[in-house]
Amino acid sequence: VSIDYDALAERWGTPLYVYDLAAVRRAVDGLRDDLPSGATLLYSVKANPHPSVVAELVRSGLGLEVSSSGELAGAVAASDQATGLRTPLVFTGPGKTDLDIGSALDLGVRLFSVESVAERDRLARLAQQRGVDAEYLVRLNHPASNGAGSLRMTGRSTPFGVDTDDTVALRDALRPVRAASPIGLHTYFATNVADADLLAEELVGAVASAATVCEATGHQPKILDVGGGFGAPMARPGALSRHPRLAAALDAAVAQYWPETGTRPRLVFEAGRHLVGTAGTLLTRVVDLKATRARRFAVLDAGVHTVGGMSGLGRLHAPRTVPRGWHETTREPAAVMGEYPVALVGPLCTPLDVLHPEVCPPYELEVGTLLAVPNIGAYGLSASLLGFLGHPVAAEVVVDGEEVVDARRLVLAAEDLRPALDGGAL
Ligand SMILES: Cc1ncc(COP(=O)(O)O)c(C=O)c1O
Repeated sequence: VSIDYDALAERWGTPLYVYDLAAVRRAVDGLRDDLPSGATLLYSVKANPHPSVVAELVRSGLGLEVSSSGELAGAVAASDQATGLRTPLVFTGPGKTDLDIGSALDLGVRLFSVESVAERDRLARLAQQRGVDAEYLVRLNHPASNGAGSLRMTGRSTPFGVDTDDTVALRDALRPVRAASPIGLHTYFATNVADADLLAEELVGAVASAATVCEATGHQPKILDVGGGFGAPMARPGALSRHPRLAAALDAAVAQYWPETGTRPRLVFEAGRHLVGTAGTLLTRVVDLKATRARRFAVLDAGVHTVGGMSGLGRLHAPRTVPRGWHETTREPAAVMGEYPVALVGPLCTPLDVLHPEVCPPYELEVGTLLAVPNIGAYGLSASLLGFLGHPVAAEVVVDGEEVVDARRLVLAAEDLRPALDGGAL
């Protein structure tokens, strides 16, 4: 099956995100095969909250991990649309407000990961007010096994979780209170770990840390949510890595710390980019070609408002976007060796709007040439600065094999705040 990107770009214009549900299903099958049997896999909605993508993951039998009331509302709608039934939802993430927790309880969410004793107390208060019982996992900040991952969340001071050596806080957090009971532990150590062995080592380390906490506090977990960190190529060609040794390593670790089979906690995993990253392609056209002071630029209609998100603020590196069929130059100086790299830049009025500083096209570029950036199904449009300069938001179509099953464009509309101003004056 090949997707006709030219036809899609012709019909919906560029920049255009194309999400392929068949690729989502392949990623789900691969990861499920690599996880221990009996484990639960959750989709981290933050990677791509598009309702058709979320609905596909729900149809595949995954639960959903959400971290804001906005994500939650979208997840609930997608899950109802997909199955008519509510899929298991876990609410995670720091800084949950009364509104976040309250709306989650009202929508039927009963499992939360709490980041502190104060958050557990907030959950208990809000659950009690509603006359419902909630369950929670206590998120841990455990020591790092190695330095893997592109963004680490544990092993140093972070806003995430309770330190595994803070036994006083852990005992308090793991004490059941009225309307809220602890049923296990949660940890999420890093995102996008490319090396499968390093990832396995970290996840085994997470099980060991959880076991130490259980020993110190007497807690008997039903669930160990060990997070994820499963990698995916981003905005460049590449394939998903597999994890052939992971299941055996984790089964052995659980059996070591909980020798009696009846007492073993169920393992839960969260994955975002690994499940949807390879399902996305960004189509963008060359708007202008320039040569200046021995450097060539291809100005695209997609910039850091379309892909690359917060890199537009200069705080993070932009993805080094490599369109399908292109390659990064390894030669120095490239032009002398017969390679003619270009800088891929977007249309924003900032020198930070760079999608790759130096990458080689396989053919002569022209104004209007269509580029297809692969593997940008996760942290693409939704992680971008949509409103920057008020460019129209890229359209999104969803294909299932050769069939187009959904097409839409988000519209950023101004909210009229004038009536709220004193005397109506601006
Ligand atoms: C708690 C938590 N779970 C899941 C994820 C999803 O990560 P990824 O998309 O890399 O799988 C993140 C990402 O930051 C996270 O913080």
